[in-house]
Amino acid sequence: MSVHRKLVLDEVRKYHQDTQGDGVFVPGTTEIWPSGAVLDEDDRIALVEAALEMRIAAGRSSRKFESSFARKMKRRKAHLTNSGSSANLLATTALTSHLLEDRRLRPGDEVITVAAGFPTTVNPILQNGLIPVFVDVELGTYNTTADRVAQAIGPKTRAIIIAHALGNPFEVAEIAQLAVDHDLFLIEDNCDAVGSTYDGKLTGTFGELTTVSFYPAHHLTMGEGGCVLTADLALARIVESLRDWGRDCWCEPGESDKCLKRFKYQMGTLPAGYDHKYIFSHVGYNLKATDLQAALGLTQLAKLDDFVEARKRNWRRLRDGLDGVPHLLLPEATPRSDPSWFGFVLTVSPDAPFKRAELVDFLEGRKIGTRRLFAGNLTRHPAYIDQPHRVVGNLDNSDIITEQTFWVGVYPGLTDEMLDYVISSVKEFVEARG
Ligand SMILES: Cc1ncc(COP(=O)(O)O)c(C=O)c1O
Repeated sequence: MSVHRKLVLDEVRKYHQDTQGDGVFVPGTTEIWPSGAVLDEDDRIALVEAALEMRIAAGRSSRKFESSFARKMKRRKAHLTNSGSSANLLATTALTSHLLEDRRLRPGDEVITVAAGFPTTVNPILQNGLIPVFVDVELGTYNTTADRVAQAIGPKTRAIIIAHALGNPFEVAEIAQLAVDHDLFLIEDNCDAVGSTYDGKLTGTFGELTTVSFYPAHHLTMGEGGCVLTADLALARIVESLRDWGRDCWCEPGESDKCLKRFKYQMGTLPAGYDHKYIFSHVGYNLKATDLQAALGLTQLAKLDDFVEARKRNWRRLRDGLDGVPHLLLPEATPRSDPSWFGFVLTVSPDAPFKRAELVDFLEGRKIGTRRLFAGNLTRHPAYIDQPHRVVGNLDNSDIITEQTFWVGVYPGLTDEMLDYVISSVKEFVEARG
């Protein structure tokens, strides 16, 4: 290591120590965020090292992250992207690739999804000219069920795209079986559920494709970032092509002739020998991440197991502490699952003597951060009202979520003191109103 580099990194370590607050929690004054990144000295050093080496595009850390994360998530391939939303766009668009021949999704085909969730789980369906078919979710687990999905399958259904709600797995084994029985693709949006299991198996390993977000609220962070994972090498190639401008070649930028056939291809109506690096087999995007992001991802990945344990512990503390509080529906893990929770969801009973807004205002007034279950019923938002879609059954629970539901944090940056303050604040409010 050069002398200057060592000096810089030593100073960065000292700087990191300097920036650590006193850690004193003052109830009502200290912010209790619903989510946030937990970044330590190693993360800061990793970012500075990548910056010192000016690894400003995707490079060795990106490749290392992709292989390490794929191994950790028990998939053969992972492709880094610039966000979880981009990962969903790539995973969905991959299903429309001509390389899938008769299995490819075509405009007008239907994709089953849920109405209550995050918009960019659904948007790629519309962006690809496909039709979302919305089903309702259950209160308590905030997931849909295999029965609801089965009822929605029709002659035009070609795929199912669902997120594991706030870390809680949906009935993924049963829904994957439905997909097999009806020859449908399954994409698991695992953005909020890294480390969750169903029947002892990691979520994200049941469908053909799965997606992850590395935004700071999520289990691992790169600032911005995401990932598409799959065990299917043909799908992985399609995702890579779509991510990297649509090109047919799989050499990394800066690499050439890995296939030893760079000038030997003839594709489309191009002249024989046209440089494979510039042959485009998909109408693609550029949705790559940078090495700075990946360098941070690697140091975060080393802490994933601890993060997951902390999320589970924090959720359990809130669940035990709030047990029996009237007028509130507490969250439940889906049977046979072990969730790596994203948040702690509460639904105020419609007949409660107080409104959600009053409870939320009270908590926010005490610096206890709250969030909505994302969009609530997506079909009620201006962006979706005129979009082609179908609803199967009713969306009554999605409407209740829109009106009555919110969540508080369980992320690893929260301490027992903070969680106990959340518990006592909720109890104090409900007792005063009850
Ligand atoms: C379930 C789900 N899917 C997709 C996304 C999008 O991820 P990103 O913010 O990285 O685009 C999010 C974001 O929070 C999410 O919760």
